[in-house]
Amino acid sequence: MKIAHISDLHFFSGKFFLSDLFSKKFLGKMNAFVRRKDHFITNHLDRMVASFIKEEVEAVIISGDFTTTSDKAEFEMAKSFLDDLETAGITAFIVPGNHDVYTSKACKEKFFYHYLSPKKALSLNGWDMLLLDCTIDNPPFLANGSFTKEHEEEVITFLKNTKKCMIINHFPLDESQQKHKLLGGETLKKILFSHKGTILYMHGHTHKTKYSNPCEPVHIFNSSEATVKEQFKYHLIELKEETFSYKEVKYFQ
Ligand SMILES: [Fe+2]
Repeated sequence: MKIAHISDLHFFSGKFFLSDLFSKKFLGKMNAFVRRKDHFITNHLDRMVASFIKEEVEAVIISGDFTTTSDKAEFEMAKSFLDDLETAGITAFIVPGNHDVYTSKACKEKFFYHYLSPKKALSLNGWDMLLLDCTIDNPPFLANGSFTKEHEEEVITFLKNTKKCMIINHFPLDESQQKHKLLGGETLKKILFSHKGTILYMHGHTHKTKYSNPCEPVHIFNSSEATVKEQFKYHLIELKEETFSYKEVKYFQ
C-alpha cells in the first residue's frame, strides 16, 4: 500500500479585516504579505493530486500548518484541497500545526476540528497510526508545541499494542530554536527510542524535506516543503507487510 506524507501547506487568502489590527493576525498577515506569500505556493496542488493518482497513493498523511493565521477563508481553502483528495479516492489523515491554532480563539474554539473534520486514525496495511495533537495557544513570536503528561500516557498506551506504526505530529523531535521547540519533546524522544517495534515518526514545521534514522527502529520523515517555491516535494512511502520503502517525489518543476 502506498501513502504520501506532506506538511505545512500554509494556505493564505490575502484578506485583511479591521479586527486583525488588534490581533496577533496583523503581524502574521503582514509577514505573509512581505515574505510568506512568495515562499508557499499553493497554486500547483492539482499537480500534486495528479502525482498521487499516478503513483497510486491510497492515503495521505498531512502533519499540520494547513493555514497561515487560522482565518476562516484559509480553512476553507484547506477544506477544498481535502475535498479534492476525497474526490480522487485518497483518504487524508491530518493533525493541526501551530498556524492552525494561531489565535487564542482558534485554539480555544478548535477551528481546525470544526472546519476540517479530521478522520479517526486507522491501521493501514497492518501499520497502526497515532494522530498526536501537541498544539498550544502561543503568544506572538512563539511557535511551540507541548508534549504533556496526557500525551505521554496516550503514546505509551498506543505503543504497548503495536509492532509497527506511524506517529503523526506537527513538531519535530529535535529543534534547536527554543521558540519553535516541542516543549517536553525529550520525553517523547526517550519513549520512542526505547520502543522495540518499528516507528515511522512523521512531522513538519521546519520547511525542509528529510528522512533520517537516528535510532533503530525509529524512522523520521519531515515533509514540510510541499508548497515551498522551487521545492514542491512529498515523501512517497510504501507500507509493506514487515517493512517499508520510501522516496522523495517532486510534483512540479
Ligand atoms: Fe509549524
